[in-house]
Amino acid sequence: MKKLFIVGNWKSNKTIAEAKTWLLEISNFQFPISDKREIIICPPFLLIPEMKTFIDEYKLPLKLGVQNISPFGEGAYTGEVSARTAQEFVTHALVGHSERRHYFHETDEDVLAKIKQLLRYDLTPVLCISDMKQLAFYLKEDDVITANAGKIIFVYEPPDAISGGGAFHAIDLDTIDANTAEISKMIGKEVVTLYGGSVNPENAALIFGLEHVSGGLPGQASLDAETFAQIIHG
Ligand code: PGA
Repeated sequence: MKKLFIVGNWKSNKTIAEAKTWLLEISNFQFPISDKREIIICPPFLLIPEMKTFIDEYKLPLKLGVQNISPFGEGAYTGEVSARTAQEFVTHALVGHSERRHYFHETDEDVLAKIKQLLRYDLTPVLCISDMKQLAFYLKEDDVITANAGKIIFVYEPPDAISGGGAFHAIDLDTIDANTAEISKMIGKEVVTLYGGSVNPENAALIFGLEHVSGGLPGQASLDAETFAQIIHG
């Protein structure tokens, strides 16, 4: 049985009270943990310290990630959270999400700089890839991804497939399998690749069953604890 990684992307949702309710609810579902399932939640920054305290106190089998990280180190960069600060609370960080590229004009260069910052502080980049052209550009620009491929979780996430909080979109399993396989091929070795975009309890098992897919990045479906628990069961 392959190891699965389920990364919940909460985006800009929830208050601390709602986050705690979610944690209480999720702790009531028996989910298969062990070394075969890694569950990572990426909440808004401000929720993270209290969520970490709660997770530690109740020994919940959950890890935390940030949704964004500064491309710079520590210093005079108003409004940014550095990898050095984040590593006190989280183990993972989303990078290159298409919403950050679209709404906040993140460039390929920003994405590469963020990956370097994360690796410097032993944080695992969860690198979202919209299409193979984008990955080809990253690989041509810099060897940081190839050189550290074993420390990175890759996510094939076509922007058109993202629910955006609305209805889930139909998914094409053949395209998902082909593109996740292609990511390893382009990098030159087998890497951990997840799929993101409208992952929900109805399609999770089908997606996770694909040969080259090692889990998923649900957004909308991670907000409700019961729905998320169903995805974890796969
Ligand atoms: P979705 O979002 O599951 O709501 O489609 C996924 C994502 O954007 O990471």
